[in-house]
Amino acid sequence: MDPATARPAVVIDNGTGYTKMGFAGNVEPCFIVPTVVAVNESFVNQPRPRSTKGSNWLAQHSAGVMADLDFCIGEEALARSKSSSTYNLSYPIKHGQVENWDAMERFWQQCIFNYLRCDPEDHYFLLTESPLTAPESREYTGEIMFETFNVPGLYIAVQPVLALAAGYTTSKCEMTGVVVDVGDGATHVVPVADGYVIGSSIKSIPISGKDVTRFIQQLMRERGEHVPPEDSFEVARKVKEMYCYTCSDIVKEFNKHDKEPAKYIKQWRGTKPKTGAPYSCDVGYERFLGPEVFFNPEIYSSDFSTPLPDVIDKCIQSAPIDTRRALYKNVVLSGGSTMFKDFHRRLQRDLKKIVDARVLASDARLGGQQKAQPVEVNVVSHPIQRYAVWFGGSVLASTPEFFTACHTKAEYEECGASICRTNPVFKGMY
Ligand SMILES: Nc1ncnc2c1ncn2[C@@H]1O[C@H](COP(=O)(O)OP(=O)(O)OP(=O)(O)O)[C@@H](O)[C@H]1O
Ligand SMILES: [Mg+2]
Repeated sequence: MDPATARPAVVIDNGTGYTKMGFAGNVEPCFIVPTVVAVNESFVNQPRPRSTKGSNWLAQHSAGVMADLDFCIGEEALARSKSSSTYNLSYPIKHGQVENWDAMERFWQQCIFNYLRCDPEDHYFLLTESPLTAPESREYTGEIMFETFNVPGLYIAVQPVLALAAGYTTSKCEMTGVVVDVGDGATHVVPVADGYVIGSSIKSIPISGKDVTRFIQQLMRERGEHVPPEDSFEVARKVKEMYCYTCSDIVKEFNKHDKEPAKYIKQWRGTKPKTGAPYSCDVGYERFLGPEVFFNPEIYSSDFSTPLPDVIDKCIQSAPIDTRRALYKNVVLSGGSTMFKDFHRRLQRDLKKIVDARVLASDARLGGQQKAQPVEVNVVSHPIQRYAVWFGGSVLASTPEFFTACHTKAEYEECGASICRTNPVFKGMY
């Protein structure tokens, strides 16, 4: 027996904003770090000596080696780039897709050796990917994992399927449902039937957590709050995570704030990064206007105006007719940007309205002779929603089926990276 199968698998969910990493079987990831790498560019951009070809090559080579060694990730990378101009930040993932493979490899290297502190040759790995990832990208991932890190086995799981598996274990739901994954850089609505993604019905919207932060930053700037410009995005993100909530009616909410400002207006206190002087500012309407971009997107962008509940309804309506009832019954939330207070309630109410209006219209068409069956709408919220993808991965990677579903190093050596183009799904779970 492969001794690596006796050890817990490493589970890493690389997101646009944050990477969640840990070991299979745990309830929470060991680390959640921003997906960012800081590289010391002074080595990379060193002036070339004007001497012979040989020493030029040597200087370049050692600069490359030093750059390979002098880099860091996560909070440390953000801090380093603030304190020293020689470190350049690179965000390897954009809108859920890896765009910079060198930076991604460096990022994984630090995750494995510096954070999880394990030998990758001793553990099977479960990584995650967005539902829209191209097969070529999976091949790159396979190449890096098998060649650079020499892992004995690899499974690349689709993020929303894992999120559904997380709901499956916490609330005993079916492996049929619609996953609404709202992360930092991507929002996907993904229908899954019996554990298989209905690819043609996936819907994506161009609004996610980063946009909510940008919108809050803009609102605070327009109101003339004195936030230091170099800090304004970070302050907006923290304000969003601490104070934002989903309201039921935007007009009523404005009135509430105007009537009782002392109850609704919060204070943000910070220190200016340059001078260290303290400052404070008000947090007002942005508390409910931030999350409202999912329900009335035109307040943020004129390019996109379909509310999230409508997108979910369109997604389910485009799925095979015999799956629709089960899909409405199990709308599962996942990702940090679904954490706003009452987000699931508003989604449930608005989605139910759309569905009920359709049922009424169909009753009217039938002329009262027959009544359409009411449709049950259920938006499921659970305590580990923020890490649902990682948690689902942790659960699946601790089943015995996981090891048989993985691609192994031996298979990779025999057939090459193309084995990573497709993944078998776990028969046991689904
Ligand atoms: N309590 C909270 N309330 C609102 N938003 C939050 C909260 N906690 C985290 N977030 C936001 O959630 C986002 C991160 O979520 P998540 O970790 O699911 O994204 P990701 O996996 O990095 O990105 P993606 O899945 O889009 O590639 C950030 O925008 C963060 O500000
Ligand atoms: Mg994510």
